[in-house]
Amino acid sequence: MTQALQQYRRALTLARTYYPKAFTYFAIASAILLALALLNATVPVLLREATNRLAAGDAMSIILVTAAAYALCWTGAQVLEWTKNILSAAVLVRCDAAFYRAFFDHLLKVPQAELRKLDQGVLVADAQRSKGAFSALTSTLFWIVLPTLIELLFVFAVLATLISVAFAAFFIMAIVGLVGLSVLLSRKAKGIHQRIMESNNQVMSHFTERMRLVEEIKLNNAQTLEQQRFGTKVGGFIDSVTVGNLRIGLLMLLQVTLVGALLLASTLYVVGEVAKGTYTVGDYVMINGYVMQLTMRLALLASVLIELRNHLVLLDRGFHYLDLETEPQGLRTPDTDAEVLFELEGVTYRAEGRTILDKVDLQIRQGHTYAITGPSGAGKTTLLRLLVGLIQPEKGSVRAFGTDTRALDRTALLDAVSVVTQHPLLIAGSVAENVRYGAKGNLSDDQLNSLLGQLGLDAHASDTPTTDRHVGFDAAAVSGGEKQRIAIARALARGTPTILLDEPTSALDVESEERTIDVLKANARTLVMITHRPSVIAKADYVIHLRGDGTVRMSGRPN
Ligand SMILES: Nc1ncnc2c1ncn2[C@@H]1O[C@H](COP(=O)(O)OP(=O)(O)OP(=O)(O)O)[C@@H](O)[C@H]1O
Ligand SMILES: [Mg+2]
Repeated sequence: MTQALQQYRRALTLARTYYPKAFTYFAIASAILLALALLNATVPVLLREATNRLAAGDAMSIILVTAAAYALCWTGAQVLEWTKNILSAAVLVRCDAAFYRAFFDHLLKVPQAELRKLDQGVLVADAQRSKGAFSALTSTLFWIVLPTLIELLFVFAVLATLISVAFAAFFIMAIVGLVGLSVLLSRKAKGIHQRIMESNNQVMSHFTERMRLVEEIKLNNAQTLEQQRFGTKVGGFIDSVTVGNLRIGLLMLLQVTLVGALLLASTLYVVGEVAKGTYTVGDYVMINGYVMQLTMRLALLASVLIELRNHLVLLDRGFHYLDLETEPQGLRTPDTDAEVLFELEGVTYRAEGRTILDKVDLQIRQGHTYAITGPSGAGKTTLLRLLVGLIQPEKGSVRAFGTDTRALDRTALLDAVSVVTQHPLLIAGSVAENVRYGAKGNLSDDQLNSLLGQLGLDAHASDTPTTDRHVGFDAAAVSGGEKQRIAIARALARGTPTILLDEPTSALDVESEERTIDVLKANARTLVMITHRPSVIAKADYVIHLRGDGTVRMSGRPN
């Protein structure tokens, strides 16, 4: 429980970091709650007063007291309630948002290898649920549990003063006993929520994965099979939710029955005492008022306490992502004038137990074009990722611009180097947006058009200018070759003197490919290209050949 509270405090800190203003709203809402509890506790006292005066035949003052009870207290409470609701909505949405932003910011810093292990469907579901859990916890703790406690204190004070301390103590003990029971029962609910969540995760994960494969499913005529499989998955979800809700419902029924019994017992006791003449009719009205008010609160409290455990579990899951280790970040700035841009010394890299690179030594010098070749799976992409410090070798060192990539500030390095990956990702948006993505300075429309023209991207037979064309979600609206050239244009738009490319023209025809490589050579001082194509290799000064057994051979001469 203490751990859970610590996590909740951590979540509050997140909210404060991202939205300091939310705490002002929070403070005002809490002050309003205090006033509300006071008003709510006052209504039955005024009604008692009115009833006693009615019994005494003082007709005139009854009107005044009743008016005070309803017009002032009750209406006042409603107005405050709604003011609080408006403020609490403002606080809660910021709690939600802070959680989302913390997820986003943190996951951006987690190493790719770790990110790849995450199930996207489950990640999205967890992010959504844990941010919901955080705001639900806030509203439960501060706007249900806390006001109920304050109200109980007021009620105790009133009953002790107007009736007797013994009665007040009994009344409050009975209620505290019921709340304690709710807490005990809520422990039972934890496992139920966990099972529901897990089966929901399975559905989300299956759904997200299959939605990426729609075309593959169609091409394999697997629609019927996939529909059946999804039906089975969802069936499991229905079962777990139905059984879970049945059990939660039974727990709730038990609690509600006990609350009802307390209501009946205390009413019967007071009626008996009124008959004996110990209490006045006004006392009866007041106590009855409290019983009604508090039983409603208790029923609400019982249901939120069952949910409370669930929220804590969900919050914990959220923090599991926020606890993923981030990439180490060096501080040293690259020496952009270095003659040797990249240098590997005795580099060994292993993946899944297989040696991809074995004690490799290599130098890449400024001002030349390098082609990296080798069979599929030889480790070409791995080498490129080592060069920019996205991964680290098991043994040996990789230096970029004179500094070990472990100690290098990668942000600064990537200000000097552009990388075009083997499967470049385009963001949903226009061609222009994609080309400008990552460009530091302002790229004028003329520069943009000239760049697209050089890469042969302007010859599209359409009314829409190329720059305004939308690439679609997952670049579904452009061809493979167009996608590659947009990614190359993006690298050129960044204007860095060094460009690294992973099979950048694999989807292009020979003529477009030659033109693209020429544009790249004309714009960058140093080019490093992974390629299988002889025509591209011919344009390189040096060839770095990965043999596929972990060894590397460099050949060629500068022109
Ligand atoms: N994250 C990873 N986890 C496990 N194995 C990996 C990972 N990344 C790469 N590998 C393995 O490392 C080897 C080299 O992969 P790499 O992508 O560098 O090859 P490549 O030479 O670029 O191949 P291709 O020409 O097909 O693109 C492959 O056997 C691959 O399966
Ligand atoms: Mg590759």
